[in-house]
Amino acid sequence: MEERFEEEAAAWAAWVRRDVYPHYAPAFFDLVPPPGRATLDVGCGEGRVTRDLTARGHSTVGVDLSPTLVRMAAEADPGGDYRVAHASELPFDDGAFDLVVAYNVLMDVDALGAAVAEAGRVLARGGRLCACVTHPLNDARAFEGRVHSYLESQPFEIAEERDGARMTFRGWTHSFEDYSRALESAGLVIEAVREPPGGPEQDDRWRRVPMFLMLRALKPRT
Ligand SMILES: C[S@@+](CC[C@H](N)C(=O)[O-])C[C@H]1O[C@@H](n2cnc3c(N)ncnc32)[C@H](O)[C@@H]1O
Repeated sequence: MEERFEEEAAAWAAWVRRDVYPHYAPAFFDLVPPPGRATLDVGCGEGRVTRDLTARGHSTVGVDLSPTLVRMAAEADPGGDYRVAHASELPFDDGAFDLVVAYNVLMDVDALGAAVAEAGRVLARGGRLCACVTHPLNDARAFEGRVHSYLESQPFEIAEERDGARMTFRGWTHSFEDYSRALESAGLVIEAVREPPGGPEQDDRWRRVPMFLMLRALKPRT
């Protein structure tokens, strides 16, 4: 499933120019701690979040499974550090970062627990993981009356079209408990949760049901 982004790289690069990211990014960056020693952006895609972190003063490395997206990210930010790497096998030492960011990635990885554990491994004690995922309620499509089973992880595939761009999103549905347990197993403690409402330009449903779940988790010092 997760490799499909390589096939969809061009579609994703076109999609990000039409995406709702500009509306939701401020809520996410409210969760992000001030720049520290080193920040890792896991699943950086074509690099929009990495560039925004760098613009905010973070010393950032971006990694992604898709070589095409990593190349696009490097082309868009020639001074940046972008590498091809798997979220479950990061080429970094234990404790190398004081911040790991995963923006709309954890529902796409095939092994949620392994990816969160690896984020926990490369975090220094006192460091934080900031993540945004499609909201579990949104995954379950509860508002459309076709709840599969909120409690059961299943593959999803959703084709969307916006302003002439098409993108097929594929990933895994997870409950809030799945995310919480993955963090718990990695020794990370949830500090803050956000469920920002959609904006006036979006379908009314996104002011009733959150599109995204954002959280910040701490790797405690002891
Ligand atoms: C929805 S995109 C988000 C990209 C970027 N964070 C952003 O918001 O623009 C998900 C990204 O996660 C990457 N990805 C999925 N599974 C991965 C894995 N196991 N390791 C590294 N990257 C992965 C995909 O290649 C894709 O670029």
